[in-house]
Amino acid sequence: MQPFAIAPSILSADFARLGEEVDKVLAAGADIVHFDVMDNHYVPNLTIGPMVCSALRKYGITAPIDAHLMVKPVDRIIGDFIEAGATYITFHPEASLHIDRSLQLIRDGGAKAGLVFNPATPLDVLKYVMDKVDMILLMSVNPGFGGQKFIPGTLDKLREARALIDASGRDIRLEIDGGVNVKNIREIAAAGADTFVAGSAIFNAPDYAEVINAMRAELAR
Ligand code: DX5
Ligand code: ZN
Repeated sequence: MQPFAIAPSILSADFARLGEEVDKVLAAGADIVHFDVMDNHYVPNLTIGPMVCSALRKYGITAPIDAHLMVKPVDRIIGDFIEAGATYITFHPEASLHIDRSLQLIRDGGAKAGLVFNPATPLDVLKYVMDKVDMILLMSVNPGFGGQKFIPGTLDKLREARALIDASGRDIRLEIDGGVNVKNIREIAAAGADTFVAGSAIFNAPDYAEVINAMRAELAR
């Protein structure tokens, strides 16, 4: 299992002051910057792309950037995210006709590759590409918006994913995304997650460090 990591989703940050927001949340103790890319096609919302990722790197952000691509088709944007300095690039299997090729494109570019599973998408394809993933991301809400409620059925799916990772013997991060907060993070960790995306729980609070510290305290309990 990878060490626990807190990955604030900048979807809920103030986009008009994005650089400062990212600085602030990293200073508050965040480990990874979760970067939600939405295309108003694969998901019903439109957000930020590789230019903003590259701007954050130029601004001086050195922390890992976890680009969660909710984009279809995904292949033609992968190279742009590699050039923009993304550390992890994850995509939804439904958004790629050739999942193995998309994973390989990411890896060939030197980034870490991951697959994202919507709440009702089975984990089946993993069995064929386990050797090519560095991260498995389970959605605990339907993708498209921050501030939704955690879907409890995801806990069983986390246990299923954790068993697959353990059986593979590889160091694969198991990330959870959607509706994560101080109250439920402990139960989510117990089900096998090691990387926790949280958008509204952190950015809607007045003190980011207070929330992140409270999350870590729950994880240590
Ligand atoms: C949803 C995004 C999430 C979202 C999480 O499609 O992938 O990363 O920002 O936001 P919260 O933590 O508010 O559910
Ligand atoms: Zn996300």
